Amino acid sequence: MCAAMSCVLKLLPFILLLYLNHASAQAQDGFIFYGFDNKSLELNGNATVGDTGYIRLTHSDGPFYQKGRLFYSLPLQIKNSSNGSVFSFSTTFVVAFTKSSQATGDGMAFVISPTKDPPGAMPSQFLGLFNITTNLNPNSHIVAVELDTIQTPEFSDIDNNHVGIDFNGLISNVSATAGYYSDDNGGGLTKLLFLSGDPLQLWVEYDGAETQLNVTIAPAVATMTKPKRPLLSLKQDLSEFLLEEMYVGFSASFGAIRSDHDVLAWSFKMNGQAESLDLSRLPTLPSGPGKKPPVLPISLPFAGVVVGLLLAWLIVFIVRKIKYKEVLEDWEVQYGPHRFSYRNLFLATNGFKDKEFLGRGGFGRVYKGVLPKSKIQVAVKRISHDSTQGMREFIAEIATIGRLRHPNLVRLQGYCRRKGELLLVYDFMSNGSLDKFIFDQPKLTLNWEQRFKIIKDVASALLYLHEQWVQVIIHRDIKASNVLLDSEMNGKLGDFGLAKLSEQGVDPQTSYLAGTPGYIAPELARTGKSSTSTDLFAFGTFLLEVACGRRPVELQEEPEKVFLVDWVTDCWARGAILGTVDPKLGEEFVAEEAELVLKLGLLCSHPLAEARPTMSAVALYLEGEVRLPEDFSAKSIAEENKGRTKERAELFGSPLSERETIPMLTLTEKFTSSGR
Ligand SMILES: *[C@@H]1O[C@H](CO)[C@@H](O)[C@H](O)[C@H]1NC(C)=O
Ligand SMILES: *[C@@H]1O[C@H](CO)[C@@H](O)[C@H](O)[C@H]1NC(C)=O
Ligand SMILES: *[C@@H]1O[C@H](CO)[C@@H](O)[C@H](O)[C@H]1NC(C)=O
Ligand SMILES: *[C@@H]1O[C@H](CO)[C@@H](O)[C@H](O)[C@H]1NC(C)=O
Ligand SMILES: *[C@@H]1O[C@H](CO)[C@@H](O)[C@H](O)[C@H]1NC(C)=O
Ligand SMILES: *[C@@H]1O[C@H](CO)[C@@H](O)[C@H](O)[C@H]1NC(C)=O
Ligand SMILES: *[C@@H]1O[C@H](CO)[C@@H](O)[C@H](O)[C@H]1NC(C)=O
Repeated sequence: MCAAMSCVLKLLPFILLLYLNHASAQAQDGFIFYGFDNKSLELNGNATVGDTGYIRLTHSDGPFYQKGRLFYSLPLQIKNSSNGSVFSFSTTFVVAFTKSSQATGDGMAFVISPTKDPPGAMPSQFLGLFNITTNLNPNSHIVAVELDTIQTPEFSDIDNNHVGIDFNGLISNVSATAGYYSDDNGGGLTKLLFLSGDPLQLWVEYDGAETQLNVTIAPAVATMTKPKRPLLSLKQDLSEFLLEEMYVGFSASFGAIRSDHDVLAWSFKMNGQAESLDLSRLPTLPSGPGKKPPVLPISLPFAGVVVGLLLAWLIVFIVRKIKYKEVLEDWEVQYGPHRFSYRNLFLATNGFKDKEFLGRGGFGRVYKGVLPKSKIQVAVKRISHDSTQGMREFIAEIATIGRLRHPNLVRLQGYCRRKGELLLVYDFMSNGSLDKFIFDQPKLTLNWEQRFKIIKDVASALLYLHEQWVQVIIHRDIKASNVLLDSEMNGKLGDFGLAKLSEQGVDPQTSYLAGTPGYIAPELARTGKSSTSTDLFAFGTFLLEVACGRRPVELQEEPEKVFLVDWVTDCWARGAILGTVDPKLGEEFVAEEAELVLKLGLLCSHPLAEARPTMSAVALYLEGEVRLPEDFSAKSIAEENKGRTKERAELFGSPLSERETIPMLTLTEKFTSSGR
């Protein structure tokens, strides 16, 4: 007995030591994974493991609206429990995105989160981390490093290819276009494209003592070492956001445009330097970029140089030949006048130089150009596609649209086809799109008179499409960003050509309704069918946007102001509808006109399709020739909206970003699915 006792006493220091060792091991958690490991990693949502072990968070070949996560199964003690400060940590990982030349799904994030499945988290631009109410809520306790491939205006995104540091929400505290600073003297920034499809390595490092968070990104290639200067460096104590025990992992999502988001390897270390990744051990991706061709040896014999020069000359010669190569099929001859030569468009836009880049439209990149002979200014939209099927109908439609003539429609002058690419040539609008003038502007840029004129312009264009042309043409994508302004600030409706096409060739099984929230009529969300009356709904939202100077959904607003329609309705019910007029206008507006526009906006975006007016009626209201219906009041809308709470929550609860509009989805689908 006594012997046993003394034995325990003798061992006590060792037991204590063991215990202490264990405790400190906990605060120094570290791990490294190449691909998936069943024991300590966990997937949820749509995430799966590929055959070589890579982790695919979302799947470009699966259903729409996916979110997928990968988490280290155990929570990590991230705060020092005795004084509450966040420990230093360091992590590095390799990720890959779908290779694509156009927009893809929303992106992914490295996440530190209190749960492996944040409650209520939505896909699309919410990255599977937040929803409209949990976003920016301090109780979310989420710190994320987002790799964002869509520019979402509600989140003040800087572009569609950026890295951002997020605290409790998707409005990044700091963000930067993806890229790395070279280590040599110049130290210039080399841009990186997420959608290049090449694996990228990231480092996220936090120094607890300095409260400094650094994020670095570089191509995941063996020749690359971690760049010395981080892309993002933020002095911020994380302890105000994080709880004592947190999970670490990744989350990715998409909405109406699908893409793969893969994690290939991951190393993490608490209170220390994460073990560096051996890039030769990355799991291979199925259709991935594959092995890079071997680099030429540095010292080439003289003969090699000569051969090389000759080859280069030959290549230049051939490239010149194919540079301007187009696709022209027999059936296209009839569309002769609408056909542009690629050479002319190339010269017009200075070879599609960045300098001529005007912006990203719903379908592709838009460039300014001056046609060589006529010196006419044009806007050229480049849409990439990888199929020739469906092209015939497409071109036929373009020719039809090319015949439409109305002073308030942006004229489609013609098109040009190349392999994998379609170019559309439009009249150039020197003042760009209307949204730039009415949103996010600290100063007044459009007075009331101009706004009212633009509203009438758009109404007249829509009246023409709906009722005055031989066929009924449904626009399908009316919103401020699709209204362009010429040099005299006349409003012209754009992009209608493509929307017209969107309904054809859509497979009802796979197509999912997408659109900009606030512009989608309830019955459109239910049935997926566009009509003149769904156009009217969007037009109603457009009227409110222009009068109030606000987007239909603004997340940064106070709760009652998030949805523009509801806010205007409430103010009307309180007899203060004019209080919603864009504050930048001050008193400088015609009260009767503003009241008319606001009420007409509500009438057009009425939840009941039958209650909405036709465009010819709208024209009469706007001209003041007919008064708005007597029985139409804020109360009548509120009543109609009662009992539609769920439907409305679905419509508004998951606002898609501006980019994911109906035609874009179907166009992409049409070209990519029929091509394979
Ligand atoms: C993980 O578990 C699954 C079954 O749950 C098994 O099919 C797979 O081979 C396991 N993978 C590894 C890497 O152990
Ligand atoms: C993937 O996501 C879709 C849409 O969110 C969902 O309906 C489906 O069940 C998910 N599939 C898996 C395997 O989780
Ligand atoms: C936690 O904080 C206390 C008090 O400052 C300190 O003595 C201790 O070393 C810290 N623990 C770790 C693991 O850093
Ligand atoms: C907590 O303790 C750590 C380790 O001693 C120290 O670096 C840190 O500054 C302390 N934090 C606070 C808030 O006192
Ligand atoms: C967001 O998620 C929270 C938590 O699950 C939930 O209470 C809230 O209703 C959700 N909001 C929306 C708009 O879906
Ligand atoms: C970033 O965070 C700091 C500190 O919390 C805050 O003062 C600042 O406004 C934030 N900036 C942005 C752009 O969110
Ligand atoms: C973060 O980057 C700065 C340089 O910008 C460097 O001085 C600092 O040591 C870095 N901190 C961490 C934790 O990597």
